[in-house]
Amino acid sequence: MIQDIKKQFPFLSQEKNGQPLVYFDNACMTPCPLPVLEAVDKYNREFFSCGGRSNTHFGRQIDNKVAETRELVAKFIGAGTPQEIIFTKNTTEGINLVARGLNLQAGERVLVSDREHNSDLIVWQVLQKERGIELVILPSKSDETFDLAGLETELQKGIKLVSVVYSSNLDGYTLPVEEIVKMARKYDALVMLDGAQAVPHHAVNVKKLGVDFLAFSGHKMMAPSGTGVLYGRLARLEKLSPLLSGGHSVKDSHYDNYEAEDIPARFEAGLQNYGGIIGLGEAIKFIKQVGFDFIVKQEFELNYFITRELKQIGGISFVGADDPKSRGGIVNFYHEKMDSHQLSIFLDESANILTRSGRHCVHSWYNSRGVKDSIRVSSYFYNTIDEAEKLISALKKILGLV
Ligand SMILES: Cc1ncc(COP(=O)(O)O)c(C=O)c1O
Repeated sequence: MIQDIKKQFPFLSQEKNGQPLVYFDNACMTPCPLPVLEAVDKYNREFFSCGGRSNTHFGRQIDNKVAETRELVAKFIGAGTPQEIIFTKNTTEGINLVARGLNLQAGERVLVSDREHNSDLIVWQVLQKERGIELVILPSKSDETFDLAGLETELQKGIKLVSVVYSSNLDGYTLPVEEIVKMARKYDALVMLDGAQAVPHHAVNVKKLGVDFLAFSGHKMMAPSGTGVLYGRLARLEKLSPLLSGGHSVKDSHYDNYEAEDIPARFEAGLQNYGGIIGLGEAIKFIKQVGFDFIVKQEFELNYFITRELKQIGGISFVGADDPKSRGGIVNFYHEKMDSHQLSIFLDESANILTRSGRHCVHSWYNSRGVKDSIRVSSYFYNTIDEAEKLISALKKILGLV
């Protein structure tokens, strides 16, 4: 089945010096399959036009496609209505929209975990400086899992918003979000989830969770780059200020006033990435065809295999929990003697294997633990055990073990 799926990805079919490409950087970006590429190409060739305002048949075609995609996204994540879906350019924009749109006041407290991507850390630090909000960073427990008891202690002191990563790009760990939302409700706190690594990899249902906001990116789930979604509960969106204002975000304007558009148009000022949005719709259809059961199983098998083999190599420390069961498709590690960037470059140059080295936009975690950096292998459903074997044997070669 995987070889058939793989044929749908021109990017994955490339070779360098006779070596097939092995792509293990899926937590960063995922390639587009043919249905996505074809839909975007068709938009650009056949009905490219001005969306949201153009009374031509092309304009209407775009508006229909965007509306269809909004509905598809809403169903995919279990939103109550398509109105609750705002198209953005990425997760970062969605989080910033909420952070700025809530109009938090001095002294109001926002809680994040200690493993947030910079996308869910820096904006709060900026608001701390600009408006005097209080940022609470909740430490993980000693086994690197989320501290629910610690959360309750902070909620008792008063928290306006809990904003946490759903599944971590650092180590793939999925936070106990159901419990987090339930507990936050008890203390009247809002909850926003950074779903960048969750929505592409396992089923997410915002209504069942009862979460207020969820942000995610299309380019981590096979859609074109520069696509994203912010889900917001309608009642919450009604109280949120837009991040951007301009064309399409107002019904009418005068020199001294304006009338805001309805939701979601009010949050989508300016011409949009219509081709990207249409591609996102196709990417969601693709994920539904593959199915989350298969995605979860495949990622676990790869993680289990790579972890076991790395442990045998020795000299390796894992970022986060040791147990692959809790790490989704991510294996993040460092070697006691070998620089992580060097390892990643060697893998690329000697074996055409693409990984990611560095601090993975979670610098704060590395700084707090005194870890310099690491190399991250992140899988998606099209990766195979054969590719994982290639990775391990290339690593052994680089480390002089074979
Ligand atoms: C957990 C997490 N949050 C946020 C982001 C930021 O995503 P984007 O750059 O698409 O806004 C990423 C990207 O790697 C991520 O992994």
